[in-house]
Amino acid sequence: MKHKSVLATAMIAGCLVWTANAQAETPSAKMLAYTCAGCHGTNGASHGPATPTISGNSIDYFVEAMEAYKSGERPSTIMGRIAKGYSKEEFELMAAFFAQQKFVPAKQKADRKLASKGKAIHKKSCEKCHEDGGSSSEDDAGILAGQWTPYLQYSLEDFLDGSRPMPKKMKKKLLKAHKKYGDKGIQALLNYYAGQN
Ligand code: HEC
Ligand code: HEC
Repeated sequence: MKHKSVLATAMIAGCLVWTANAQAETPSAKMLAYTCAGCHGTNGASHGPATPTISGNSIDYFVEAMEAYKSGERPSTIMGRIAKGYSKEEFELMAAFFAQQKFVPAKQKADRKLASKGKAIHKKSCEKCHEDGGSSSEDDAGILAGQWTPYLQYSLEDFLDGSRPMPKKMKKKLLKAHKKYGDKGIQALLNYYAGQN
């Protein structure tokens, strides 16, 4: 009898220690990233077209995006609700995980003539912060080259109608380009980014 109760006590104690450990352990970045895969694809390479690829971005860009969704500063259809479920530490873990995954450009068609016009606009107005034709993440500005076109189009519409905040200098350049080249200019830019795959 005595043995049994000692064993039982040991087992209960063991269980308690195990539960305490499980609770103390923060979820791994990979575990967190699994919940995103249903929409953003395995390791962040989205099958699109309105859901962006989220691999390869800088950590700062990613964390800021999630915080802006959480606060409602950045408009969204879905991400606001999702971001509310996580802490800043969890954003940082996810950001580090996705930053290590390769950005996979979406396979999309592009109009060559429009793309070359877009390239010229990009060089003049956007390249300074979206380097290497918009494929670099170095400036914490988000990757444009090879990103899904419908997603980029919604993003640009949100910037242009003022519902998504953007850096002052980008605002100046984007509004100026839009004024000069019109919606055709935006289409040209989109074709330029789509053509880089
Ligand atoms: C139900 C589908 C869905 C799920 C699940 C989801 N997302 Fe999203 N995500 C979207 C959509 C759609 C957008 C575009 C913004 C919007 O409309 O909400 C987006 C946008 C984003 C962006 C912005 C990318 C950029 O280039 O600025 C980030 C970052 C992001 N999601 C991260 C995550 C993370 C991290 C998770 C998992 C915790 C996640 N998402 C889960 C659908 C989803
Ligand atoms: C002064 C630097 C700067 C310039 C110039 C600039 N951008 Fe940006 N861009 C940024 C930064 C920083 C962000 C991230 C903003 C944010 O979401 O808070 C951004 C974000 C974006 C996004 C959103 C990416 C995503 O994944 O959601 C698009 C699209 C974009 N820029 C397009 C352009 C275009 C087109 C031009 C030229 C007409 C341009 N930008 C010029 C700095 C710049």
